[in-house]
Amino acid sequence: MKQEIEEKLARSLTAETTGLIPFLPYLLQDLWELGSNPGEITRLLKEHLSALQHTKILDLACGKGAVSIKIANELGVSVYGFDLITEFIDYAGQKAKEYAVESLCHFAVGDINEVVNNESGYDCVIFGAVGNVLGNPQETLEKLMKTIKYNGFIIIDDAYVPDELANNEVKYKNYEYLTREQWINLFKKLGLGLVEEAIADDDYDFDSDNRAIAMRADELTVSYPEKQELFDGYVQSQLNESDDLTDNIVGVTWMLQKIQ
Ligand SMILES: C[S@@+](CC[C@H](N)C(=O)[O-])C[C@H]1O[C@@H](n2cnc3c(N)ncnc32)[C@H](O)[C@@H]1O
Repeated sequence: MKQEIEEKLARSLTAETTGLIPFLPYLLQDLWELGSNPGEITRLLKEHLSALQHTKILDLACGKGAVSIKIANELGVSVYGFDLITEFIDYAGQKAKEYAVESLCHFAVGDINEVVNNESGYDCVIFGAVGNVLGNPQETLEKLMKTIKYNGFIIIDDAYVPDELANNEVKYKNYEYLTREQWINLFKKLGLGLVEEAIADDDYDFDSDNRAIAMRADELTVSYPEKQELFDGYVQSQLNESDDLTDNIVGVTWMLQKIQ
């Protein structure tokens, strides 16, 4: 895998170094949802997609399939999910069977940088908590737009800072957040209509996720004592990110429509 892809993969899961990649499935084994809110995304689709029959949805960097499976289960639509981590895709496949939606969910291992060049004609593309894997916000939105039909939708879960200076307060340093105004101007510039903005729930229980990860990090430290610093660093990054989402940045899901 190319170095840049690996670095972005690590960062998409809040890891500061690529040395953590082999351990991420172990560290995250107790979590199914890895970032975006499946209930909120399903609600947005239910409210704004008129005809659900024959609808095809693309879930880029789908993680363990928590979003795709909820959508397929509640709306009966076809979902195509891609992720780079084989263990996540295997888990997504098992969960699809458990929820009896395996005929609607198509999961595959793939680099979304390639997927965006090969997939097109979708009714909606979901980009949930993936960060800068496809480039900066403008590059990301342009690539997402290529995968959907005219009048199709983008659902993007990201975050903004209250104002530009606030970037200095952010603890997690691998990402430069835009302000809300910068995002909105970008949507206009690209011909994307803002259908709905859903601000993330303030009372999400980060503590229980963080405790689960810390417990797995302790277990790994017993097996690999020489890597203790690496695992401790991951636990700290997770804490920093959840502190940011509580205090310094605003988590948001936007539903956009391609109108140009
Ligand atoms: C924070 S998780 C979000 C997962 C999912 N969208 C969700 O909200 O539950 C970020 C995901 O991006 C995936 N990822 C990072 N770089 C990727 C790439 N180049 N191609 C495919 N998936 C990638 C990671 O494996 C991880 O599952």
